[in-house]
Amino acid sequence: MLRFALALFAVITSSTCKKYSCLDGETHKLNGKENPYCTIFVSFLTASCCYANFTEQLAHSPVIKINNSYWNRCGQLSKSCEDFTKKIECFYRCSPHAARWIHPNYSAAIRSVPLCQSFCDDWYEACKDDSICVRNWLTDWEWDESGVNHCKNKCVPYSEVYANGTDMCQSMWGESFKVSESSCLCLQMNKKDMMAIKYLLSESSEESSSVSSSEERACQRKLLKLEKLKEEEGEETR
Ligand SMILES: *[C@@H]1O[C@H](CO)[C@@H](O)[C@H](O)[C@H]1NC(C)=O
Ligand SMILES: *[C@@H]1O[C@H](CO)[C@@H](O)[C@H](O)[C@H]1NC(C)=O
Ligand SMILES: *[C@@H]1O[C@H](CO)[C@@H](O)[C@H](O)[C@H]1NC(C)=O
Ligand SMILES: *[C@@H]1O[C@H](CO)[C@@H](O)[C@H](O)[C@H]1NC(C)=O
Repeated sequence: MLRFALALFAVITSSTCKKYSCLDGETHKLNGKENPYCTIFVSFLTASCCYANFTEQLAHSPVIKINNSYWNRCGQLSKSCEDFTKKIECFYRCSPHAARWIHPNYSAAIRSVPLCQSFCDDWYEACKDDSICVRNWLTDWEWDESGVNHCKNKCVPYSEVYANGTDMCQSMWGESFKVSESSCLCLQMNKKDMMAIKYLLSESSEESSSVSSSEERACQRKLLKLEKLKEEEGEETR
């Protein structure tokens, strides 16, 4: 059974490999190598679009700033909230899959990447007691002449800025993310994404924004199989 799972992974990896490309931007660089840090968070990354000098900034905790963007303007983020923020940064900066959702007008931006509802809810749960002074992390800062971010508004808990996980996912990074109607054909920044990405990169889902019900069923079946495999593996090693 394990061999079957590995074969399945190999098929998925080779079929998505052809699609690798990177977004524009300073840290976006396809070097074809596995990224040592972001793979911890976004484990489906098999190639990386970012330089090591970017991920080095994420590799410790707490993160004070990334490039010139300070993360601690309203105090240090809690560890769990910081981890979610890192996952999003890793996806955007380092994932070769991000280019699938490239913004039509800005080649360094992404648009409507489908996130799983559960991922957004967990993210919100992790951050709701932390503080923030922006609703849109991309646009609501005041940038000084050296390109450093400052708060325009006062710091308040996430739970005052965002109504819930859906609101947060769909507002914090502008148009970058949307919450998917599917619980399978969506990304959650973990291994299960390897499954979803296979369908999300397919031609048919490029044409229509909503995925077909047959793809949904196929995805759910595969997910179930994967979960069963995991359970069996767990029993074997016990
Ligand atoms: C990161 O490294 C690349 C390649 O060595 C370089 O071009 C880039 O300027 C560096 N970026 C920063 C922020 O140091
Ligand atoms: C891209 O720009 C065009 C022309 O300005 C605009 O009509 C369109 O809505 C923009 N698309 C998005 C997704 O923002
Ligand atoms: C890093 O900061 C420099 C200087 O402000 C800026 O030009 C560059 O675009 C920034 N890079 C990223 C990835 O934010
Ligand atoms: C989340 O918040 C939005 C905006 O206030 C609201 O429209 C939506 O119904 C809420 N969703 C849930 C599941 O509570």
